[in-house]
Amino acid sequence: MGHLHPWIKPVLTAHRAGVMNKFGAVRAQFHQPDVDGVDITGLIEKFGSPLYILSEKTLRQTVRRLKRAFATRWPRVRHGWSYKTNYLGAVCTTLHQEGSWAEVVSAYEYQKARALGVPGSRIIFNGPLKGVEILEQAINEGATLHIDHFDELYAIEQIAQRLDKQVPVGLRLTFDTGYTDAWSRFGFHLESGAAMDAVQRIGASRHLKLTGLHSHIGTFVLDVRAYAAQAKIMAGFMEQAEQAIGCRIEYLDIGGGFASKNALQGLYLPPEQVVPSFEQYAEAITGALLEATRERAGKGKPLPELVLETGRAVVDEAEVLITSVVGGKRLPDGRRAAILDAGVNLLFTAFWYNHEVRPVRPLDGIAEDTVLYGPLCMNIDVLRSSIMLPPLNVGEALVIRNVGAYNNTQWMQFIQLRPAIVMVREDGSVDLIRDAEQVETLSNMEHLPANLQQPFPKGLPQ
Ligand SMILES: Cc1ncc(COP(=O)(O)O)c(C=O)c1O
Repeated sequence: MGHLHPWIKPVLTAHRAGVMNKFGAVRAQFHQPDVDGVDITGLIEKFGSPLYILSEKTLRQTVRRLKRAFATRWPRVRHGWSYKTNYLGAVCTTLHQEGSWAEVVSAYEYQKARALGVPGSRIIFNGPLKGVEILEQAINEGATLHIDHFDELYAIEQIAQRLDKQVPVGLRLTFDTGYTDAWSRFGFHLESGAAMDAVQRIGASRHLKLTGLHSHIGTFVLDVRAYAAQAKIMAGFMEQAEQAIGCRIEYLDIGGGFASKNALQGLYLPPEQVVPSFEQYAEAITGALLEATRERAGKGKPLPELVLETGRAVVDEAEVLITSVVGGKRLPDGRRAAILDAGVNLLFTAFWYNHEVRPVRPLDGIAEDTVLYGPLCMNIDVLRSSIMLPPLNVGEALVIRNVGAYNNTQWMQFIQLRPAIVMVREDGSVDLIRDAEQVETLSNMEHLPANLQQPFPKGLPQ
């Protein structure tokens, strides 16, 4: 990589007085040469570019901070790791070692948790599709089931009847908090009466026992008042359900949704100023719960366990994506553009976040408004549509920060193979935790029928 810049045609930018950013100058350019002391350039030499790098230290510290914020405010707290957020085996196992259960939403995720050694009794099973086979396995293994719709309720009842068991179940609820758009397609609607109908249906069954309530109000929820409202509504419904059918609700599961330190597109202020801390979320939730359960506590009834399924806020900051510049161009409107070896195939979250981008080494030159394109032959492949960066040479490596949530599960295999993932361990060593894909990784799953073995008839001139 040469450190001298090639000559680049200069551009003239009109100076517009009076429209300056009211916060002052351009935000300072930081560079990031390492992850927890491990040199990024060395990792690229060994594992290639692009490359995902996970920090074990950040992951463990973040989940500990989350748990501490809640455990110091509520007597019984449990965290279920939301597999869909990042189900790399190394990530899940690290979090299980920290005491988190598995929160899964499909047969695949359930099987994955089991394969990682998680017992069924430490799996929370959510999601709208749970087939009969996996339901039967989950029931036999003592998983916590959260029912999404009536047909699932009937299916669980039938299995329980066949196995001659009484199965503990939880209900997923949906309702209006007043602060978020209700995700009304999941679970039983509270205001319409469907949730109470489900409670009655469970109460009437010899084979089902209602033990928990669950809801997930959204994701990247910045207003802690939404959670306070959720906690109050769920605690109120707990009382109603207990009275209606004489059950005992052992836990309230409030789902996930806490924001991470990413800049959501369209937000004016930077994340450091708008994203609540774990303590602020915890204070709002446990404050509302204390208030809503005061009468209950006065009667000596046990308080429910509080279950969290925090995903994004636990893992986002623990992973970065390294990408390298493969070319640059000047766009017809005068803006600078850089083409990178990683695009939305590896960074799905670029569609709604302005991910922070730092060069691996300090860059010289005047910062200009730059577009960062990925390598896909697809117009929407833009990692940042506008970012102030100095000139970027071919080979220059960039760190895209806070990519741990949803990118290793929602990535897509469109015209590119997926790269390696490494984990920087707490002791400073580096482990490869997912191989870079090879052509064979994908072609091994295909089958060529006998008469399609040859692309061209034999004997054609070369
Ligand atoms: C049921 C459930 N729990 C937990 C999560 C994790 O949410 P987040 O990553 O926003 O914390 C989700 C995400 O969609 C979910 O659907």
